[in-house]
Order: sequence, then structure tokens, then C-alpha cells
Amino acid sequence: MPSTTARRITIAPSLLAADFARLRDEVAAIEAAGADWLHLDIMDGHFVPNLSFGPLVLAALRRHTKLPFDVHLMIAPVDPYIAAFAEAGADHISLHPEAGAHLHRSLQLIRSLGKRAGVVLNPATSLDTIAWVRDLVDIVLVMSVNPGFGGQRFLSSQLAKIAALRQWIDGGDKPIALAADGGITPATAPHAIAAGADTLIAGTAVFGAADYAAAIAALRGPAMPS
Ligand code: DX5
Ligand code: ZN
Repeated sequence: MPSTTARRITIAPSLLAADFARLRDEVAAIEAAGADWLHLDIMDGHFVPNLSFGPLVLAALRRHTKLPFDVHLMIAPVDPYIAAFAEAGADHISLHPEAGAHLHRSLQLIRSLGKRAGVVLNPATSLDTIAWVRDLVDIVLVMSVNPGFGGQRFLSSQLAKIAALRQWIDGGDKPIALAADGGITPATAPHAIAAGADTLIAGTAVFGAADYAAAIAALRGPAMPS
């Protein structure tokens, strides 16, 4: 699998596992530690059985970091909130197909706001869901846990989905980031990467570590030969 081994891996720490009493410092720390994106999990207590935070937190942090904001919306209905997250500083906005009636329209809305658009596939959701919206998709997130909570165990059943998506992406003519989200650790990351993921989203494995730079480096794996 030559194409997967030569890829530089994007690391996106999930703020959900940060110390919420020190969010500004936590974001500065992962930026200094080499994170590529900041992943922001937005939960409504309805689409998923947990609550997190909203656009006010993005807007407050936006002034203090240059990291791209990778926003993962776990809210339904989702369309009424997309503009608020774009205005608050999101760079990428990803949503679940189940969170609205018209995925194509939601993706059009995100892109009309000048943001990269992502689709998140739950463990039971087929990749066929995005077959006919390829032109509007910049990022695919494969949930490797059920959405709603950090600190869950990686579902290895999702590796075959990542591999199938890698083929699908490589068979097209536009770049699409392929991310695994949930249960990513130094033990599971190599499997996700070998299956074809180029982006890893990790909460506990980064913010739960004593040394953020070491944790990020451990997820990224060996440096690529230049
Ligand atoms: C789960 C979220 C994940 C989560 C990852 O609903 O989408 O981004 O924060 O947390 P860990 O890395 O702890 O599984
Ligand atoms: Zn997430």
C-alpha cells in the first residue's frame, strides 16, 4: 500500500478532552506541540446523548490561535446553526447525514459560506451516503466510536470502511481528507493509517497525556523520508 505509507498525517486534537477551565491555554499548548487542526465537537443532547459547547466558545478562542477550526456538528436539525458556526470562526464544518433531510443542500450551504464541508459517517452508516455528493465534500470523517463521548474504545469494524473510502477518494480527481474520529491512540492509529486515513482526531490520547508534543508525535508515527 504505497500511497498510504507515504502520506503525512494530519493530527486534530479534540477540545472535548481538554481542561475546560483553561481552554485558551490548552489550545495554545497543542498549537505549540504541533497540532494541525483543532477539532471542536458540538453536541446538542438530542442528536447525541451529551451536551458540549456552542459558537460562543469558538468565537472566544478564535482570537488566540491560528489553528484551523475543524467543527464536528452533532446537532439536529443542523442547517439552522451552520451560519453561526461559520461566523464564529469555523474553517471546516462537518455534519452527519442523519442530522438533516437534505445533505446536498447542507453541504451547499457550508461551501457558500466559504468553508470546507465535511460528512461524518456513523459506525452503521454506509459510505454510499456520499456517493452522489462527492463534488461538495472536502472531508470525510469516519466515526470509529459512536458519537457523543470521548474516551471510548476504537471500533475496528470501521477499518474496512476507511479502506473502501481511500479507494473511492483515490479514484476521483479532487482531494478529500479522510479522518478517523474516536478511540485513536498510539495503538490504534497505525491501523487507521494503514487502512488509508490521512487525518486522526484524538481527544483523550492528546489532552490526557503529560507531554502533548510527544503524544502528537506518537500518533503521527515515524517521520516521512523527504
Ligand atoms: C465523539 C467525538 C470525538 C471525541 C474523540 O463524539 O466526535 O471527536 O472527542 O475523543 P477520543 O479521542 O477520546 O475518543
Ligand atoms: Zn468529533
